[in-house]
Amino acid sequence: MRVAVLGATGRVGRLVVAEVLAASDLELAAAWAGPASVAAGAQVCGVPVTPTGVGRPDIVVDFSSDAALAAALPTFAGVPLVTGTTRLSEATQHGLAAHAAGAPVVSASNFALGVVLLRHLARTAAAFLPSFDAEIVEVHHSGKRDAPSGTAVDLVAAVRAGRGGGEARHGRYGADAARVPGEIGVHAVRGGGVVGEHTVLFLDAFERVELRHVATDRVMFARGALTVARRLVAFPSGSHSLEAALGLGG
Ligand SMILES: NC(=O)c1ccc[n+]([C@@H]2O[C@H](COP(=O)([O-])OP(=O)(O)OC[C@H]3O[C@@H](n4cnc5c(N)ncnc54)[C@H](OP(=O)(O)O)[C@@H]3O)[C@@H](O)[C@H]2O)c1
Repeated sequence: MRVAVLGATGRVGRLVVAEVLAASDLELAAAWAGPASVAAGAQVCGVPVTPTGVGRPDIVVDFSSDAALAAALPTFAGVPLVTGTTRLSEATQHGLAAHAAGAPVVSASNFALGVVLLRHLARTAAAFLPSFDAEIVEVHHSGKRDAPSGTAVDLVAAVRAGRGGGEARHGRYGADAARVPGEIGVHAVRGGGVVGEHTVLFLDAFERVELRHVATDRVMFARGALTVARRLVAFPSGSHSLEAALGLGG
């Protein structure tokens, strides 16, 4: 299976390139990055970076940015896509839906299997403890641009689904910042080289439950995306959930 990597020079993308090169069942169709890297003659694992659309991939694995993905989509129409890029704009989501009309697509904010479980547990706990205050804390490296993380956004949705509602509140500041009953607090911590940590807290006056996932190495995202890619090529056109692509149902 020939894999093109979009965002090949990035923190995650270069790990995907390395994993593809190391896998006997995969071949690197192309390493795609932005115009500046192409113009500078950048290489990843010794492979020259090319503009998007170059090469004949069986599947595209993307870890880039909202703008990069939106711009690249028309260059590989009809090709299956696994995208891990987070915080996609409405316009890009429409673009993905259009792409999915002609090819199978998985878009997921976190390819860690443990996060699939965390979402499930957060939903279950929210339903089981409806009167507890729910707060989500995510910690990431200082270079992360978007906030909150896509995974935190998914966790808000999981809590909401478990409870049948609840508004997200992003941070608290000021003299009148008391907690509003029912809200779901979301807090983004940035610093150092933290790969990614997500904690969902359920608090009441006398007890507290904490559900936490800690990612220790980005290679897990690359491997997770390639596990999905190997399965997705056999799927019909359409948008598929991570759970469905992993054969977990849903
Ligand atoms: N789903 C998951 O499991 C997961 C895990 C971790 C991260 N992420 C997400 O994955 C995305 C990338 O994260 P990262 O930390 O790897 O980012 P990063 O290090 O900033 O890398 C971004 C990549 O996008 C490329 N790019 C930028 N503009 C481009 C354009 N116009 N055309 C083609 N490529 C372009 C960059 O290439 P040049 O700048 O070299 O041109 C670079 O290779 C983020 O949205 C992040 O939140 C998802």
